[in-house]
Amino acid sequence: MAKISKTAAKDRIEFLKKELEQHNYNYYVLNNPTITDFEFDLLMGELQGLEKRFPEFATEDSPTRHVGSDLSSAAGSDFVQVAHRWPMLSLGNTYDKEELLEFDRRIARTVSGPYAFSCELKFDGTAICLTYRDGQLLRALTRGDGTKGDDVTRNVVNIPAIPKQLHGESIPLEFEIRGEIYMPYAAFERLNAERIDDGQDPFANPRNAASGSLKLQDPAEMRTRGLDCVLYHLLGEDLPFKTHTEALQAARGWGLPISEYSRRVESIEAALDYIEEWDTRRKRLPFATDGIVIKVDELELQRQLGFTAKSPRWATAWKFKPEQALTPLLSIDYQVGRTGAVTPVANLEPVQLSGTVVKRASLHNKDQMDLLDIHIGDYVYVEKGGEIIPKITGVELSKRPADARRPVFPACCPDCGTPLVRDPDEARHYCPNQESCPVQIKGRFIHFAGRKAMDILAGEATVEMLWNRSYIHTLPDLYSLTREQLVSLDGWQEKSADNFLASLEASKQVPFERVLYALGIRHVGEQTAKTLARHFGSIDALMAAGRDDLVQIEDIGGTVADAILAWSASDAARDCVERLRAAGLQMAVTDTAGSRLSDRLEGKTVVISGNFSISREAMKALIEAHGGKNAGSLSGKTAWLLAGEKAGPEKLKKAEKLGIPVISESDFRQLIESE
Ligand code: IVH
Repeated sequence: MAKISKTAAKDRIEFLKKELEQHNYNYYVLNNPTITDFEFDLLMGELQGLEKRFPEFATEDSPTRHVGSDLSSAAGSDFVQVAHRWPMLSLGNTYDKEELLEFDRRIARTVSGPYAFSCELKFDGTAICLTYRDGQLLRALTRGDGTKGDDVTRNVVNIPAIPKQLHGESIPLEFEIRGEIYMPYAAFERLNAERIDDGQDPFANPRNAASGSLKLQDPAEMRTRGLDCVLYHLLGEDLPFKTHTEALQAARGWGLPISEYSRRVESIEAALDYIEEWDTRRKRLPFATDGIVIKVDELELQRQLGFTAKSPRWATAWKFKPEQALTPLLSIDYQVGRTGAVTPVANLEPVQLSGTVVKRASLHNKDQMDLLDIHIGDYVYVEKGGEIIPKITGVELSKRPADARRPVFPACCPDCGTPLVRDPDEARHYCPNQESCPVQIKGRFIHFAGRKAMDILAGEATVEMLWNRSYIHTLPDLYSLTREQLVSLDGWQEKSADNFLASLEASKQVPFERVLYALGIRHVGEQTAKTLARHFGSIDALMAAGRDDLVQIEDIGGTVADAILAWSASDAARDCVERLRAAGLQMAVTDTAGSRLSDRLEGKTVVISGNFSISREAMKALIEAHGGKNAGSLSGKTAWLLAGEKAGPEKLKKAEKLGIPVISESDFRQLIESE
């Protein structure tokens, strides 16, 4: 071990503690880690080593002694925190065979009697604790800080793999079962493709996508995310099982999702064989794993071994090192997305990595390129880890060729030549030529036609053809396309033209919130569009809104507000909206079943008076969209008088006389927007 003075050790311990807390926060709360798990484990190992050598500097609050917290109160969520009945701990981990043998020797020294191990995959998701009572799912908590977790039951009930009701023999009256919620690769790729399409940053890996999804405030959105679950730890009082394997088999019998890949083995050598086998096999699994968990199988021996402050002594994790490949960087493409964002993408000499051939890797933005000091011709390290989008993690400077040259980030859009701009608050460069940059325009058509937007039968190839023939320039042009124009396209028959026209016709019924999303306003993804539709009720009210009106809405920050304001101020946007309205698209929420926002005002009659942050017409539409009825005058049937600014004094007096509650716009919004 390297020599280190006492003062240097103290400083280094302080530094590592701060550093690790920050990485814990990035990982568990922001779902946006900035270092790999391997790098994190190295820092943690260093801190553990120093605290062991200098116990006088080891404090209770050290990250070596508590688990990273995923509690989201700090991020402004409204999940209730609930105490765990039994603390929810982490696992010790190792990358080293000798340490694993030492884990076995320590167990042999501590327990009396023979033991076996349960070898299991280490699923790379986010931990969950489910409580069942009388065979019914009662509650789902995240790990939180290990002693209390966020109650995410309302979201978890939307994961099909998790049974709400158990069936079978001898189900304990109450028990907890813990496991992992994860996102299979296929769902992850689909979600990221949608996010990129929406101009949102993709999730770095399936784990971040899973934990981000679990904390969504909208359970309906959560249902679309394709999450899965596997459970691996049963807890309860007086459970009748002797081994962990037996307990999980029983749980499987009650209908709970238990891994089919676990294996009970009799020795640490057999556990090592399992590790070796799965180091290869895991690459063919449809979901991410980051290691193998080895647990003493006998429950009585688990009790004898007990816990440290942070993890059980009866289990440990073998972590797989992220696979890396070293390959030359051939060139860099600068891709322009539909929102104008420019992404540098590295073209690599094709190289085999984790079962696939990698040819391209994202370089994110100019800052990242500068940080890596990347040169064309460099040998670069590419990593996938648990991730599907390969990333460049470093440059092998010893292999830098003499003629390697620093890439020049373009000053102008590679597609239309307009000088690029960079928002001071964002790392990305943008092409500001929204109105006539061809890639951006084509991208907007593809987005507009997308399944979650207007659902028109026009993919990339169709848009390309229509554009090349100059049949379309702005979005509303789609609604003027003729059958003759369509059948003249390469490979199109009358049938395809008719299908296309039918999908255009059907898109006129698409509810306002999806139309708003389809318009492709920067930073307005699917969720934001829903929030805005719910708040303003119509495009006119949204376009008339000021910055203050926008930022006071929950989940709408300054960046989104500014993007909306810039959009609504442009003549192109106004023209586009008017022409789409004339074509018959929904530009306001209506009370048809398709665009019902909620039933919260079902059976209630509301009378409005005065001015609101949205027009009076929009307010009436909003009431109807939430199932309520509008009335012009107060009567015994009126549920509320909704009073805006300058509400009529006569109405207010009458309401008081009839005992009708008077509510403000913000009361009303709470009524319709609360969960
Ligand atoms: S056992 C006290 N088994 O890995 C028992 N954990 O890095 C602790 N994990 O917090 C958990 N697969 O979220 C266990 N088969 C498995 C697992 C597993 C994934 C997660 C779990 C844990 C983390 C530790």
